[in-house]
Amino acid sequence: MTDCNQRIIAPSILAADWSRVREEVERAEFAGADWHHLDVMDGHFVPNISFGPQYVSAVRSCSDLTLDVHLMIERPDLYWEAFVKSGADRITVHVEADHDIPDTLEKIGKAGCGRGLAINPDTDFGDVVPFLDQIDLLLVMTVRPGFGGQAFMETETMPKVAEGKRLREERGLGYHIEVDGGIDTETVAIAAEHGANVMVAGTSLYRAENMADSILKMRE
Ligand code: DX5
Ligand code: ZN
Repeated sequence: MTDCNQRIIAPSILAADWSRVREEVERAEFAGADWHHLDVMDGHFVPNISFGPQYVSAVRSCSDLTLDVHLMIERPDLYWEAFVKSGADRITVHVEADHDIPDTLEKIGKAGCGRGLAINPDTDFGDVVPFLDQIDLLLVMTVRPGFGGQAFMETETMPKVAEGKRLREERGLGYHIEVDGGIDTETVAIAAEHGANVMVAGTSLYRAENMADSILKMRE
């Protein structure tokens, strides 16, 4: 079972220097990262294109840490398997995407990966409620997905984190609650107060003067 009380810091590769991916991945690990977060974007589900399975394999060959793959794609049911083969340890799909959600989650779990479900700031929390007993991680997006470097949307998203925590307790479940977007050494405290334990941060970590210091602050 997951330890949903453990603080996990997951730098997002999106903000790294991709021309030096091995050094960037190692830099994050030396700085104390727990997981690497990888943002896959298809240009349909979000208005941006990032990378696919081949890039995830490249990161896999540089690291033994948990690879937390976030699929911002319209048809996760068609592509999740390619990411398992690329070495993903956890795969998160969106509740807003066009797929049979329980079926995709079940297949990801059977393939031996952590099952994550993500919800966007403009989506009603009720949309994820039917699936909470089938997940290992609930990702509450704290920006509208597609780009790094956006501002944390506190009022739209923190009630979702709190509700995720409340229902987890009520139902005796054990999923992590992850936040993603605009997380820095200040906003991390707000997210933690509401019940998040997995902190994804791109810009604030990869562009920090001292990543190790920032990670340490994020753990406090
Ligand atoms: C947003 C992505 C995030 C992004 C976060 O679409 O899902 O993971 O990398 O970047 P920052 O931390 O810069 O907001
Ligand atoms: Zn992400």
